Amino acid sequence: MNILWVYAHPEPRSLNGALRDAALKQLRVDGHTVEQSDLYAMQWNPVVTYEDYGHDPTKRFHVASASSAALAAGAQAPEIAAEQQKLLRADAVVLQFPLWWYSMPAIMKGWVDRVFVEGFGYGVRASDGSTRRYGDGVLAGKRAMVVVSMGGSEHTVSPRGISGSLDELLYPIQHGILFYTGMNVLPPVLVASADRMTDTDYAAAESDLMQRVKGLQTDEPIRYRSQNGGDYDRRFILRENIDADETGMRIHTER
Ligand SMILES: Cc1cc2nc3c(=O)[nH]c(=O)nc-3n(C[C@H](O)[C@H](O)[C@H](O)COP(=O)(O)O)c2cc1C
Repeated sequence: MNILWVYAHPEPRSLNGALRDAALKQLRVDGHTVEQSDLYAMQWNPVVTYEDYGHDPTKRFHVASASSAALAAGAQAPEIAAEQQKLLRADAVVLQFPLWWYSMPAIMKGWVDRVFVEGFGYGVRASDGSTRRYGDGVLAGKRAMVVVSMGGSEHTVSPRGISGSLDELLYPIQHGILFYTGMNVLPPVLVASADRMTDTDYAAAESDLMQRVKGLQTDEPIRYRSQNGGDYDRRFILRENIDADETGMRIHTER
C-alpha cells in the first residue's frame, strides 16, 4: 500500500515523534511505501490566502469556492498541488496529532483548509449534477485513520465522560473531513494520559499502534451512513424510521 502520514507536532523528540518514527519504520519493514507530510518540519503555512481563493472578476464578492477555478486552471500554489498529489497517490491516509483544545493543532487544520479546496475536497460533482460527499468524492475508496494523543485519561472520552465520547469528539475530523471527502474511516488510535506515561505505558501504546498500523489495509471502517445510501431525505435529514427518537452525532453511524 501507499500510505500518506500527515503529522503535526513541533517537537520530533516528543511522545508523538517517537510513535511516528516507530510506525513509519514498521510500515516500511512491512513493504509499504510511505510518504509523509511533517507539517512543522515543512513549515506549512496554515493560513488561507487571497491567492488561494482564486479570483473571479464576474463575482461581486471573492469567496473561497473560487479556488476551484485555480484548481481547474492548474494555478494553485505549488505546495497545495503537491499535497493533493500525495493524497491522490495514497491508498491510506493517517492524521497524527496531539489533541489541542479538543481538536487538531491549527497547522493541521490549515493543511485541510488549504489543500481540500472546492473541486478536490468539496463541491465535487457527479455526472448527474449531484454533489459527491459523505462517503463519496475525489478520495473515495481510500482508507483514513486518526492517531491522537491526549493529556486526559481514557474515561474522559468514554460515552458519559466529560469530553464526550471519542467518536463525538472526533466527529468533525472523522466525519466532517475524512468521510466527507469520500474516505473509509477506521476507528481511531487513542493514546490517553499522554503526559504521564511510564516506559511500560509507552511500550503498550507503541505496540497498540503497531497492531493498528498492520490493520490499515484490513480493519473494518466505522459504518458512517453514506449521503446517497437511502438513509437521508432530500434535505439530508435522517429518515424518521431510522433510530427514531434519537438525535446527535451517533445516529449517523449504523449500529
Ligand atoms: C495547546 C494545548 C491544548 C491541549 N488540549 C488538550 C485537550 O483538549 N484535551 C486533552 O486531553 N489534552 C490536551 N492537551 C494535552 C496534550 O494532548 C498532550 O500534552 C499531548 O497529547 C502529549 O503528547 P506529546 O508529548 O507528543 O505532545 C493540550 C496540550 C496543549 C499544549
